[in-house]
Amino acid sequence: MRILVTGGTGYIGSHTVVELMEAGHDVIILDNLSNSNEAVVDRIGKITGSRPVFYNLDMRDGEALTKLFENERPEGIIHFAGLKAVGESVAKPLMYYDNNIGGTVNLLKTMEKFGCKNIIFSSSATVYGDPEHVPVTEDCPKGSCTNPYGWTKSMIEQILMDLCIADKEWNVVLLRYFNPIGAHRSGTIGENPNGIPNNLMPYITQVAVGKLDHLNVFGNGYDTHDGTGVRDYIHVVDLAKGHVKALVKLAPGSGLNIYNLGTGKGYSVLDIVKNFEEASGVNIPYEIKEPRAGDIATIYADPSKAEKELGWKAEFGIKEMCEDSWRWQKMNPNGY
Ligand code: NAD
Ligand code: UFG
Repeated sequence: MRILVTGGTGYIGSHTVVELMEAGHDVIILDNLSNSNEAVVDRIGKITGSRPVFYNLDMRDGEALTKLFENERPEGIIHFAGLKAVGESVAKPLMYYDNNIGGTVNLLKTMEKFGCKNIIFSSSATVYGDPEHVPVTEDCPKGSCTNPYGWTKSMIEQILMDLCIADKEWNVVLLRYFNPIGAHRSGTIGENPNGIPNNLMPYITQVAVGKLDHLNVFGNGYDTHDGTGVRDYIHVVDLAKGHVKALVKLAPGSGLNIYNLGTGKGYSVLDIVKNFEEASGVNIPYEIKEPRAGDIATIYADPSKAEKELGWKAEFGIKEMCEDSWRWQKMNPNGY
C-alpha cells in the first residue's frame, strides 16, 4: 500500500516507517521537524536499505499538503503528527488546539478532496481518564481528560467518528496507545526528547548516562503494590507492528474500528527502576516527590480485541524494553 505517514520522523512514527518498509509498503513521510530531526530519514535508510521520500511541511499548510497529495497520491494515511507535551499543553492550550485539531482537520479536508478516506490515528489511553476498572477494554466509557493535550486526542477521535457516520466511504482506525518505551534493537533510532524529559523512561536513561542527577518519583502513596503509579509499558517496535497489522481495517467497508495497543501488564515506577537497573547494570538514584497533577494511580490495557481481530500481540517483555532504551541512549547520548 502507498502510505503517507505524518509525524514520520518522530519517535513512534520512525519505528512504524521501518516496519512498514520492511513489510513491503511504499512510504512517504511528512513532518515539520518541530519535535524531530531530518537525520532520522537517513537512519531509517540505514536500517531498511532505502531512504523514504520526505516532505518537510506543516500539516496546517493546505497548499503544501495539496501539492504533496498531487505528487504522491497516497492510498492511506497513518497520522502521528501532533504536539504531545502534557504540561506545555496546559500552559499553551491554543497552540495545542491549533496544531493538533486544526492540523488534523486540514489533513482530513485534503484527504477528502483527493478521495483518500483511509486513516489510522494515534490516540491514547489518556482518553479513558481515570478508568472505572482495569484492565480497560475499548468499550469502557471515555473519561474526563486532565489537560488540553488529552482533549485534543478525545476530540479528534470524535471528529473521525462523526466522519464515519456522515460518509460510509471513510475507514478509520483509532489506536489507543499505552506507554511506549524502548527503541529499535540496532540502537539506530529511538526517543529523542527536547530538554528535560517529561516521561519516565527517557528520564531514567538520562540519569543512567549521567545527564541528570537522579529520578524524581512522583508520589508513593497510591493504592498500588508499592505506592507508585502503575502503567502498561509497551515496546515501541511492538506498537509499530500494530500499525502494520491495522492496515487490514482500511479495506473498503471497514468503517470505524478502535483498538487498545498495550501488553496487558502493569508495572509501577519502582518496578521499572529495578528492571532498568538489572538490564543496564547501572544504579538509578531516586527521590520520592509529591504526586504530579493529573496523574492517576493505575491504568493498563485489555489488548485482546487487537489480538482477536488483527492477529497482533505485543511480543517484547520489560527486559527487552529496558535493554533497548538503554542501548539507544548509550549509543546516542546527545540524541540525533
Ligand atoms: P513525537 O513528538 O516524537 O512525534 C510527533 C511528530 O509530529 C514530530 O516529529 C513533530 O515534529 C511532528 N509534528 C508536530 N506537529 C506537526 C505539524 N503541524 N505538521 C507536521 N508535523 C508535525 O511523538 P511520538 O511519541 O512519536 O507520538 C506520535 C503520536 O502518538 C502523537 O500524536 C502522540 O500524541 C501520540 N501518542 C504518543 C504517546 C507517547 O507516550 N509517546 C502515547 C499516546 C499517544
Ligand atoms: N513518573 C515519575 N517521574 C518522572 C516521570 C514519570 O515518577 O520523572 C511517573 C508518573 O507519575 C507515572 C509514570 O511514571 O506514574 C509514567 O509517567 P509518564 O509521564 O512516562 O507517562 P504517563 O502515563 O503519565 O503518560 C503517557 C504519555 C501521554 C499519554 C499517556 C497515556 O506521556 O501522552 O501515557 O497513553 F497520554
